[in-house]
Amino acid sequence: MSEGGRDMIILNTIDLCKTYGKNENKVEALKNINLSFEKGKFTSIVGPSGSGKSTLLHTIAGLDSISSGKVIIEGTDISKLNDEEMSKFRSEKFGFIFQSFNLIPVINVYDNIILPVEIDNKKIDKKYVDKIIELLALSDKVNKFPNELSGGQQQRVAIARALANKPEIIFADEPTGNLDSKTTNEVMNLLKTCVKEFGQTLIMITHNDEIAKMADKCIEIQDGIVI
Ligand SMILES: Nc1ncnc2c1ncn2[C@@H]1O[C@H](COP(=O)(O)OP(=O)(O)OP(=O)(O)O)[C@@H](O)[C@H]1O
Ligand SMILES: [Mg+2]
Repeated sequence: MSEGGRDMIILNTIDLCKTYGKNENKVEALKNINLSFEKGKFTSIVGPSGSGKSTLLHTIAGLDSISSGKVIIEGTDISKLNDEEMSKFRSEKFGFIFQSFNLIPVINVYDNIILPVEIDNKKIDKKYVDKIIELLALSDKVNKFPNELSGGQQQRVAIARALANKPEIIFADEPTGNLDSKTTNEVMNLLKTCVKEFGQTLIMITHNDEIAKMADKCIEIQDGIVI
């Protein structure tokens, strides 16, 4: 979306720092990060192992506390929110996709997908959910259980679940890390189609150069600094 021709910033950080531990155990995982993410765009985050990618994703998504600086989402300084407000903010606005699919084994694919909506006690938008299921090519899998699906199919279910709440921002930490290259391409194309269709903002960590290049913008992190 654009305002007066300028791209709209949905999330930005101001001198974001994150330090773990104390004294000799101190790790400065993020050092003065100043970033902005545009609404409706796909941003990839790359960098070596231990450079701070997951820490960045977790702090900007309010999953982890920050040591100093600010994270601002649609004008809200999220450090000002208490735990309850933060978790409401997260469940209403964010979707998460991780490397491990974290599906619930004892409920079927459809119930896994709508779980976040049910937890929120919200009404399920059947038309929207069906559209996601169709876009992710899961229509013939809805009655199956997670262990009856391949890795790629399970990750597509996890993606559908992340989208079910109509999130504005999708945070993904190496979502294709457990998939082979053919499945990675399929899953990425489906995910890109979905976010485009619904105008969602996608922020994704990846080790895969091909995926990083699919993004509108790529951010590189090294030793806790954006380079
Ligand atoms: N809970 C924690 N306690 C202490 N140190 C941590 C914690 N989480 C991360 N770190 C440290 O912070 C630094 C950044 O870690 P982070 O997990 O963000 O890296 P990453 O870029 O995601 O790496 P990878 O590609 O391996 O997932 C590392 O030095 C790591 O050891
Ligand atoms: Mg990581």
